[in-house]
Amino acid sequence: MDGAARVLVASNRGPVSYSVGEDGELRGKRGGGGVVSGLSAIEADSSSLWVCAALGEGDREAVRRGVGEPGSRMLAIAPDVFHAAYNDIANSVLWFVHHMLYQTPLEPVFDAGFRDRWAAYETYNAAFADALAEEAAPGAAVLVQDYHLVLVPALLRERRPDLKIGHFSHTPWAPPDYFRLLPDDTAVAVLEGILGADRAAFLTRRWADSFAACCADLLGAEVSADRRSVTHRGRTTRLGVHGLGADADFLRERAGRDDVVERMAALRAEAGPGRKLVVRVDRTELSKNIVRGLLAYRRLLVERPGWRSRVVHVAFAYPSRQDLAVYRDYTAEVSRVADEINAEFGTPDWQPVLLKVDDDFARSLAAYRLADVALVNPIRDGMNLVAKEMPVVSDNGVALVLSREAGAYAELGEDAIVVNPYDVEATAEALNEALTLPDAERADRTKRLAAAATALPPTRWFVDQLTALEEQA
Ligand code: G6P
Repeated sequence: MDGAARVLVASNRGPVSYSVGEDGELRGKRGGGGVVSGLSAIEADSSSLWVCAALGEGDREAVRRGVGEPGSRMLAIAPDVFHAAYNDIANSVLWFVHHMLYQTPLEPVFDAGFRDRWAAYETYNAAFADALAEEAAPGAAVLVQDYHLVLVPALLRERRPDLKIGHFSHTPWAPPDYFRLLPDDTAVAVLEGILGADRAAFLTRRWADSFAACCADLLGAEVSADRRSVTHRGRTTRLGVHGLGADADFLRERAGRDDVVERMAALRAEAGPGRKLVVRVDRTELSKNIVRGLLAYRRLLVERPGWRSRVVHVAFAYPSRQDLAVYRDYTAEVSRVADEINAEFGTPDWQPVLLKVDDDFARSLAAYRLADVALVNPIRDGMNLVAKEMPVVSDNGVALVLSREAGAYAELGEDAIVVNPYDVEATAEALNEALTLPDAERADRTKRLAAAATALPPTRWFVDQLTALEEQA
């Protein structure tokens, strides 16, 4: 029997995840990352539904107790299936491919174990397709999100050909020569899974073009001359581009609250009055390139000793995906390099790097407001919302050092100081340029950056996708 929801969203991470406190009570915490930021625009009413996965024991307990956000349904997928689908396939294979993170002489290795884990990924995707098929009203629109759920569009179409199905990728898309490292049947399944959608959308034209190129190269699909659609086995999937922007109203209101103002005072005291602040805020994520950022800062202190004691690198690197050994190792490496810089250059009244790893949103906003320079140097990034958020709440203007490999580069490149993320020497130079940008120039650029960054706020980003899908013939 068909369900009642007219608009459905599906993503691995839902709006809130739960933990059980010592008192046995459930505590909810809002999820982070671009997907949750964008989708929070979905209206919690009886005609819409957000389907997500239970991520851990707290979430599974919430499902058992029938606790959840209004307008959402959490799927309690078996823990071993979830682990294989989320950690082993989504985050260790698909994420690695799209961000081109493999050290290819040793990784990846696709063996029998990989096939088993891929089977779990299929099971996990099928659980979403089943739930969506059950909940969707006739002709409803379903917006499937990200690399965790690439098989869902095709699986859902088999179950419910009446639905309008969209898929949105929040990551970059790998170029064909890199994408081809996946086993052939897996690569085909990924592409054909997404092509089950009526519309496949991306954060920038660059990623949409890469997807189309993979479809042409690996499937022999036909890409239209304007690169706006792909036809495969007689079905056409439209390609869309929606560059998710920062939520100016929310950020400005939140950044003006007392807890943020208190943290500004604390941070200023800790950094030392009058010192320039080079700020970065990230998940501790391999693709964010935090270590090379630290090395570039170190290089700045070596090459231009005049900056010693006059600048502090504020690096907030919040724990992420700690079930994966490579993320734990990376986290340790970030700390090690930060400690090394502090030991090498620090003086009794100057700590060159302030590294914070405990997640505190109010403190992030405090750093955004105070930053003189924003360092956003990912190896590859679907968009990067930090680059968009900092100029919006900056108190005195911020000079943005931005990787040309971030999706945000397409919109912010003109007013940023652009770097090749692998080039530590050039990044050090870019930091110097950013630190010495004349005040008026910095203020002008910040204004333009903020305007570009808020061009497509989350609510419109969501509504635009939905409208485009619903209007599609
Ligand atoms: C990226 C992905 C999102 C993901 C987020 C946080 O932004 O595109 O799908 O939710 O990272 O990662 P996590 O593994 O903690 O959900």
